[in-house]
Amino acid sequence: MIIRKLKVLGIESTCDETAASIIEWNYNGKVKILSNIIHSQIKNHSDFGGVVPEIAARAHQENISYVVEKALKVSQLNSNSISAIATSCGPGLIGGLIVGASFGKSFAIASKIPFIPINHLEAHILSPRLIHNVEFPYIALLVSGGHTQILYVKGINKIDRIGTTLDDAVGETFDKGAMILKLGWPGGKIIEEYAKNGNCLKFNLPKPMFGKVGADFSFSGLKTALYRKVSSISMTKKMQFDMAASFQHTISEVLVDRCINAMSILRKKRKPFKSFVLVGGVAANEYIKIKLNNLADREGLSFFCPPLNLCTDNAAMVSWAGIEYIINFGINNVDNLDFIPRPRWPLDPKSKPIGRAKHAR
Ligand code: KG4
Ligand code: ZN
Repeated sequence: MIIRKLKVLGIESTCDETAASIIEWNYNGKVKILSNIIHSQIKNHSDFGGVVPEIAARAHQENISYVVEKALKVSQLNSNSISAIATSCGPGLIGGLIVGASFGKSFAIASKIPFIPINHLEAHILSPRLIHNVEFPYIALLVSGGHTQILYVKGINKIDRIGTTLDDAVGETFDKGAMILKLGWPGGKIIEEYAKNGNCLKFNLPKPMFGKVGADFSFSGLKTALYRKVSSISMTKKMQFDMAASFQHTISEVLVDRCINAMSILRKKRKPFKSFVLVGGVAANEYIKIKLNNLADREGLSFFCPPLNLCTDNAAMVSWAGIEYIINFGINNVDNLDFIPRPRWPLDPKSKPIGRAKHAR
């Protein structure tokens, strides 16, 4: 069947955003985000300094119908005009995943349209292609609250993991760093704001894994070093600015070092790539974006990063991933109503498990 036009509804509920979006795709390649609705749960969790899974699940249940109805209303569509529904089915917190998947499946059954389970990480990784013409294969640095990975993206559902974190993710490190500096939660955006007023060379913090072979990361030592430094001095506002700047700078140096290694690993294996993409919530950080853009320039690569509202969790990237699956596999081959949400869902199941884990993440 030749597909001429698609309108795909996307649902996102893996962590603390309940989101719905509708994207229209035309066979001539024209793409339009008709709606991109996000309900953030920051207020529900901020007193606890992190996402509380039980509270998150209840809040998703409370808001899912509202965000989907609003996505339809803003797009001036009713449910009959939707071609397929794409839903983030993992990795993430099981309560939210069940809410999103159950809603998506019910919608698909009622509207007699395909239900496409989407890996949330793959949605992040494909998101630059929603806006830019990024050709496969490319390198992706995924930096989010729960994941830090360098990936070789060969195509839809064809991804090799080159490096991953052995402990904390970058976003988590920003969040914990901000807690240690008593700046609030979520920490990435606040640290970035504080860092603008600080001297990034004032404090010398350790750079875990820097200069080591391979492309893996480790951030727990950096967090502990920050804690020790903060505990040993009486903090002034100026010191908070300098600490935030030094912390952010150190993280950026580690990211650049690991990406250089990943690129050289791929080149040694004669794997081609022309583009480097930066995705995930931490990609909203301008300082980090500039450092990685400079790296891409030095390496002769095109650099792509989605706009701010598509970096942090959103449903437009999920709708887009659904469209990519339909274009790649055909609308008759993507329905998977039996899919069970997966709190752990590795992008590259062949990759080696980390630490004492039995399976890849
Ligand atoms: O991708 P995302 O929205 O959710 C996950 O899938 O985890 O990423 C959220 C993470 C949080 O840890 C948050 O602190 C971080 O992204 N983040 C930032 C910035 N904005 C969000 N980190 C650094 N700088 C920012 N401007
Ligand atoms: Zn995410």
